[in-house]
Amino acid sequence: MKVKESKFIISAVNPRQYPDDNLNQIVLVGKSNVGKSSFINTMINRKNLARTSSEPGKTRLVNFYKIRGVKQDKDIDQEFYFVDLPGYGYSKMSKAQQVEVGKFVEEYLQKSENIKLVVLLLDIRHNPTADDKMMYDYIIKQNLPCVIVCNKADKIAVTKVDGEVTRIQDTLNPLKDLSFFPFSAERKIYTDNMWEKVEEYLN
Ligand code: GTP
Ligand code: MG
Repeated sequence: MKVKESKFIISAVNPRQYPDDNLNQIVLVGKSNVGKSSFINTMINRKNLARTSSEPGKTRLVNFYKIRGVKQDKDIDQEFYFVDLPGYGYSKMSKAQQVEVGKFVEEYLQKSENIKLVVLLLDIRHNPTADDKMMYDYIIKQNLPCVIVCNKADKIAVTKVDGEVTRIQDTLNPLKDLSFFPFSAERKIYTDNMWEKVEEYLN
């Protein structure tokens, strides 16, 4: 995809504020600070359209970014949303705030009818947490199409990347019926693979 235009549309606090134009949506989920907002910026080649922070807990609402692009080989215009959700598992958030964030995420995943793909972001350096496992199970139970992206691949040696992705897949998806990818929002590598996958689900 060659991205032509990307713009922030709305930070929604409730489903009535979700865009009602029926465009496809690709949503980012994962623990706080794993790089969901950075993933969006890297894919669309913008520095800070989705607000990021080294402090966990930056994204608090359901953020919609409208993307217009052209499919490389076919010259077809495409419009869709990247949806940036708040991260889970941020221990410094008060219990009440964590509950509220969880409500935003669940409400979005349940009520949005235009989700084409859930991108579950993990940190390539770590084992999936109990929260990651819970999110993974929830996505599967809801029958949502899903890919797993192991971010921050720049933090480990290139020669270790494939092995770590396999290790994470063995833990989460021993049946190996889902796609797992390495990624680095920081170094902007593996983006072509991701775009290929995203385009596959948009069609
Ligand atoms: P919340 O909004 O709190 O849920 O976090 P988030 O998942 O949106 O994370 P965000 O994109 O704000 O990134 C968190 C921190 O990780 C920032 O300091 C980013 O620069 C950094 N980061 C994101 N992706 C990568 C990556 O691929 N490699 C490295 N080294 N750092 C990254
Ligand atoms: Mg964020």
